[in-house]
Amino acid sequence: MAEIVVVESKRAAGELVAASVRRLIEAKADTVLGLATGSTPLPIYAALAESFRSNPIDVSRLRGFALDEYVGLPPGHPESYRAVIDRDVVAALGLTPNNIHVPNGDLATLEGAGAAYERAIEAAGGIDLQILGIGRTGHLGFNEPGSSFASRTRVKTLAPKSRADNARFFPTPDDVPRHCITQGLGTIRRARHLVLLAFGADKAAAIAAAVEGPVTASQPGSAIQLHEHVTVVLDEAAAAQLANLDYYRYIWANKPAWQGI
Ligand code: F6R
Repeated sequence: MAEIVVVESKRAAGELVAASVRRLIEAKADTVLGLATGSTPLPIYAALAESFRSNPIDVSRLRGFALDEYVGLPPGHPESYRAVIDRDVVAALGLTPNNIHVPNGDLATLEGAGAAYERAIEAAGGIDLQILGIGRTGHLGFNEPGSSFASRTRVKTLAPKSRADNARFFPTPDDVPRHCITQGLGTIRRARHLVLLAFGADKAAAIAAAVEGPVTASQPGSAIQLHEHVTVVLDEAAAAQLANLDYYRYIWANKPAWQGI
């Protein structure tokens, strides 16, 4: 079962996950992180930046793989995930640019981009800790409902609901790309530790389905139930539809500190 942690704020969520990431880097300087974009992971990146600032460690060998990228945005588009990762992760944390990878969404060279990304993850020794958000459709990465649990990095079509949700980042809703290239659920499931975060009432139904619903391709988030090490970090609103919430609080409250997440 996934470990469910309910925290009082996004900041607390960010600090909890950042502390775990920091411990990983201290133990293994070339740790491989799986990086989500969107709003949800920002408190983690902010807490990591603060941690590295107040107590510097060598992050020059840290490696990272983003979950996904839009297809067909012009190079350098400020809302391409390459640009977001460069800004919010590489620059903000002082990472080595060549160590941080984003799937290639360039239309001209799209063929083979998924397989190349899979090879790069494998060559890096796999992902140690994968940061995840979840969409209102239940998507992980951009694996919309129906995605195979065995899928690998490939091109997908964004669900209308996901395009509408991401319209806030673009001048008009029509500017949101219709296609993306995303790590598959099979790729995500190979990461050694999944850390899924969600904040706000809009995410409560997707979280309940992912954690407690049937395991089904119709709810991509439910793929986490097939993984042996998952931490789900939620605020109260995102946790509100969990049937066994009291039990999860009890488990967390009684967890030995040495176990970490
Ligand atoms: C982002 C990603 C998506 C988002 C999800 C939630 O790389 O793969 O699955 O995590 O759409 O987005 P936010 O965090 O903006 O609510």
